[in-house]
Amino acid sequence: MLKDLSHDLRVTPTRDERTRQEFVSSLRKHVLADMAASMRANYEQRVLPAFERAHGRAPADGDEVHDAMQDQRYFRFYSSIRYNAQEMVFRSVIPMVDRNLEDLNDRVRARPGKAVLNPALKVPSNVTNIDVHLTPGSYHTEYQPDDVAAGAIYDHSINVFAFNQMGRDIDDIGHSFANYVRLAYPDFRPRSILDAGCTVGHNTLPWAQTFPDAEVTGIDVSASLVRYAAARAASFGLPVRFMQMNATNLDFPDESFDVVFSSMFLHELPLKDIRAYFRQAFRVLKPGGLFLNMELPPNNRLQQPYDRFYLDWDSYYNKEPWYKPFRDQDLPQLCAAAGFAPGRFVEAVVPRYTYTPESEFKANIERGARFGNRTGRLGEEIEWYAFGAWK
Ligand SMILES: C[S@@+](CC[C@H](N)C(=O)[O-])C[C@H]1O[C@@H](n2cnc3c(N)ncnc32)[C@H](O)[C@@H]1O
Repeated sequence: MLKDLSHDLRVTPTRDERTRQEFVSSLRKHVLADMAASMRANYEQRVLPAFERAHGRAPADGDEVHDAMQDQRYFRFYSSIRYNAQEMVFRSVIPMVDRNLEDLNDRVRARPGKAVLNPALKVPSNVTNIDVHLTPGSYHTEYQPDDVAAGAIYDHSINVFAFNQMGRDIDDIGHSFANYVRLAYPDFRPRSILDAGCTVGHNTLPWAQTFPDAEVTGIDVSASLVRYAAARAASFGLPVRFMQMNATNLDFPDESFDVVFSSMFLHELPLKDIRAYFRQAFRVLKPGGLFLNMELPPNNRLQQPYDRFYLDWDSYYNKEPWYKPFRDQDLPQLCAAAGFAPGRFVEAVVPRYTYTPESEFKANIERGARFGNRTGRLGEEIEWYAFGAWK
């Protein structure tokens, strides 16, 4: 059963909407857990041996696996169901948000929280030119004055999309990395924290909950998301500030933050914007500050070409054109190019904090980053990957 979000901006589905959302969520789980396992077996039992017979070797990378899979009936079936399930996530949520939109906009006006908008900001083309991961209207479209539709759609969609796997308020990534920092670096006490590309602030707020003395700021280019995120934070009683700003051109003085964090952000940026953002992160970090990005694991850290192919699916079929270009990067080099000293690179693979006893979570951190077939891959479970550098 899907759990409703716990905060005051949640929208309650009708019985029909709830049934539809339950179905879509179960379908997503079936595709990502059961069908994915069958597709892998199909690859290992048929496609790989045929490739080896034809070439006298195994595929060298994810692209060769992708080429070999393209005319496989099972891969096409999997891709078709997965694509449709993605569209169905939004179709199961948008009518519910639409029905409640005026009321939601009023609720946000009544308790806006700390939202700083910038009407002069031009929303970048990586957001405006495509319906990112098939989200109708992408992250920025507005339908009414002071609209929060994009925020409400994202918040409720991710809940359906992730079939209860990402925390009660889809905030497990934030909890996992704020607590990773608390436990892995007990002497480091951040007082100012930035979350770039924060969407509805679901993974921003756990930083304020974990480090209550810190001033926490989330930025995003979409006004609708910033309004929603600020009101969502207010409903939790958390004094987190949300600002409409482009991460490639941060409007903060040099050396403003102890932590610059992002989550699931980089793979939606063109490479030139990733580079610009990294330079900005280096600039606004204080000396001794931490740059940390939760992301999909890079292709060069995965042992099996099949795993690289599997994770790059979204780049080909889910309107995420920057996904593979990001995953193909050498991350220590990207950090070094922005100014971080090469020896200061950090990398972590952590279990989900919300679902893991703290002693186990801590033991896992102490073992160091280990890549497995759950790393960055939503299925029955998932574990999170992050990288960055100390300044
Ligand atoms: C996948 S979402 C991030 C999700 C969220 N951080 C999380 O933890 O799930 C990417 C976000 O980045 C925002 N975005 C895209 N380009 C941006 C830019 N140049 N500067 C700031 N935000 C940007 C989008 O509006 C969107 O909200």
